[in-house]
Amino acid sequence: MSKIKIGVIGAGSISEAHLNAYANNDKVELYAICDLNEERAKAKAEKYGASKTYVDYHDLMNDQDIDAVSICTWNNTHADIAIAALNSGKNVLVEKPMTTSMEKAYEMEETVKKTGKKLQVGFVRRYASNTQILKKFIEEDDLGEIYYAKATCIRRLGNPGGWFSDIERSGGGPLIDIGVHVIDVLWYLMGCPKVKSISGNTYNKLGNRKNIKNLSFYQAADYDPDKNTVEDMANAMIRFENGASLLVDVSFTLHAKQDEISVKLYGTKGGAEVEPSLAIVTEKYDTILNLAPQVDSTTFDFGQAFQAEIDHFVDVCLGEKETLSPVADGVEMTKILSGIYESAEKGKEIYFD
Ligand SMILES: NC(=O)c1ccc[n+]([C@@H]2O[C@H](COP(=O)([O-])OP(=O)(O)OC[C@H]3O[C@@H](n4cnc5c(N)ncnc54)[C@H](O)[C@@H]3O)[C@@H](O)[C@H]2O)c1
Repeated sequence: MSKIKIGVIGAGSISEAHLNAYANNDKVELYAICDLNEERAKAKAEKYGASKTYVDYHDLMNDQDIDAVSICTWNNTHADIAIAALNSGKNVLVEKPMTTSMEKAYEMEETVKKTGKKLQVGFVRRYASNTQILKKFIEEDDLGEIYYAKATCIRRLGNPGGWFSDIERSGGGPLIDIGVHVIDVLWYLMGCPKVKSISGNTYNKLGNRKNIKNLSFYQAADYDPDKNTVEDMANAMIRFENGASLLVDVSFTLHAKQDEISVKLYGTKGGAEVEPSLAIVTEKYDTILNLAPQVDSTTFDFGQAFQAEIDHFVDVCLGEKETLSPVADGVEMTKILSGIYESAEKGKEIYFD
C-alpha cells in the first residue's frame, strides 16, 4: 500500500505534536514542511526526514504529490490556507480555533462541500481516551438527560505573548485559545445541541503582567510581550434549544491562587467529571456512588490524544473512518466563540434563530 504524503504548514510549537504523531503512523510519509520562517521549516524537515520545505504555502498547494495537510499557523490564516488546500485536492486537518469569523467558517464549509475533500478540526480533546470512555457511558444513557455543564480553565499567569496576544492574528485571547477546548469537549459530550442564546463578559483588567518575576509560563515561539490587544479573562452562559446550559470561565491571567482546569457535566441519572480527573457520579439502591474508572490515564493525556487525533485523520484520508470533528462542528463552535465576544461587546444576551 502506498503511503499518504503529508505536508505540515506552520512549524512552531504545536507542529511538534503533529509531526511526532505522523512519524509514529506507518501509513504516512512526512513529505513537506512550510513556515514563513525558513530556518524553522528546514530544522523540522531535517528532524523528521521531510524531503521538501516551503516558505509560501501557495507553492506547497501546487505540489500535487501532497495528499493532506496539517495547518498549525496563526488563527487568522487557518481559513485561507484550508480553502486553498481543499481547492488543490488535499484533505485538511486544521488546528483549533477553526477560524476567527463566521464568514470564513461558512466559506470553509462551502469549500468542503464543493470539493468533496475531508476537513477535520483539531478539537484534540474529543480524541482523548478520557473523553471517549465517558462518551460510551453517555451513549448508553448512564447520565440520562444532560442539562448542565460547567468548564473552568484558569491560568493565573499565562499570556503566551507574540501572535497569541495580537487580536489581528489570534482573533481573541484565552476564550479562543484555551476556552475553545473546554467548551467544545462539553458541547461534544452533550451531543452538540443547537445554541439558542449567549451571555458573555470579557475583561482587560490586568494586561499580560510582563512585570511578574520568579514564575515561568508558556510562551509563543516568537515571544513578544510588548503588544497585548486581547482580553485577559472571559466568562459566559450558553443556552441551548433543548433547555441545557453551559457555564464557562477562562483566563490568561487572574488573581487566582492557582491554575485550575475543571470540565463537568450533570444529567438526570448521573454526573461526570472529565477534568481534573475522569469520574462518574450515580445513584443505586438509594445510595450515591462516585465511580472511579480504572484506566491508564484519568486526565487529558496530551501525547495519547494527539496520536489518536492524527491516526484518526489518516484513516479519514484513507476513507476508512468519518471524522469525529467535522467542519459543521467547527462552524457551530465559531458561532459560540463569536457570540460570546459579541455579547460582551454589546453588554447584553444575544439570540440565534
Ligand atoms: N490543539 C492544541 O492543543 C493546540 C496547542 C497549541 C496551539 N494550537 C494551535 O496551533 C496553532 C499554532 O500555534 P503554535 O503554538 O504552534 O504557535 P507558534 O507561534 O509556536 O507557531 C506558529 C508558526 O506558524 C508560522 N506561520 C504563521 N503564518 C504562516 C503562514 N501563512 N504560512 C506559513 N507559516 C506560518 C509561524 O511562522 C510560526 O512558526 C494555533 O492555531 C493554535 O491555536 C493548538
